[in-house]
Amino acid sequence: MSKLQYEDIRKSEEVNAYLAQGNEMLGVLGYTDHSAKHAQIVADTAGKILKELDAPKRQVELAQIAGYMHDIGNCVNRTDHAHNGAILARSILKDMGMEVKEIAAVMNAIGSHDEKTGCATDPISAALILADKTDVRRNRVRNKSKSSFDKHDRVNYAVTASKLRILPEKNTILFEICLDESICALIDYFEIFMQRMMMCRRAAEVLGMKFKMTANGKKVC
Ligand SMILES: [Fe+2]
Ligand SMILES: [Fe+2]
Repeated sequence: MSKLQYEDIRKSEEVNAYLAQGNEMLGVLGYTDHSAKHAQIVADTAGKILKELDAPKRQVELAQIAGYMHDIGNCVNRTDHAHNGAILARSILKDMGMEVKEIAAVMNAIGSHDEKTGCATDPISAALILADKTDVRRNRVRNKSKSSFDKHDRVNYAVTASKLRILPEKNTILFEICLDESICALIDYFEIFMQRMMMCRRAAEVLGMKFKMTANGKKVC
């Protein structure tokens, strides 16, 4: 039997319905975009990280699958969304015929992606964390009124460009952001993202790499 592919997950009505419901609920609560677009960006970046580090092909695919599904738990509740998402993923992947060892790896990555309760422990969870925590961009902000931006809106809106570069020859994963400092000072970025950046550092270490970051061309860590 052929193995379940990322493309099958991306087309899954069930996965897309849970993502849509979760995103709608988070929108009402004032959160940034967590739609299928975020899911796809995270899946693509997680896959790219492992591909560029020469990981086995199937591991790359599992990181893409975990990346696309990582926020489905938001349809249950924002609190514990990582854990709920892992449990939801189990039944979906089982129904779709994935073997249990692979399901376990995907569940672990999804269940470990929230900075309040999780951390990277293997290449798939590490790639997912790096991809998720670096998806910072202006068009994730859903609030149309700048005057009512909360700090998450302001920080995301201030990021005019970002790039995650995998540099195996330098043993480094480099996160570059361009920040409009008239909207948000670098210190505000760190107030919100410190825990996430620490999580990225640990994730990079799991991959045998260093995590570095620049803002407007200046080294910040
Ligand atoms: Fe999440
Ligand atoms: Fe996410």
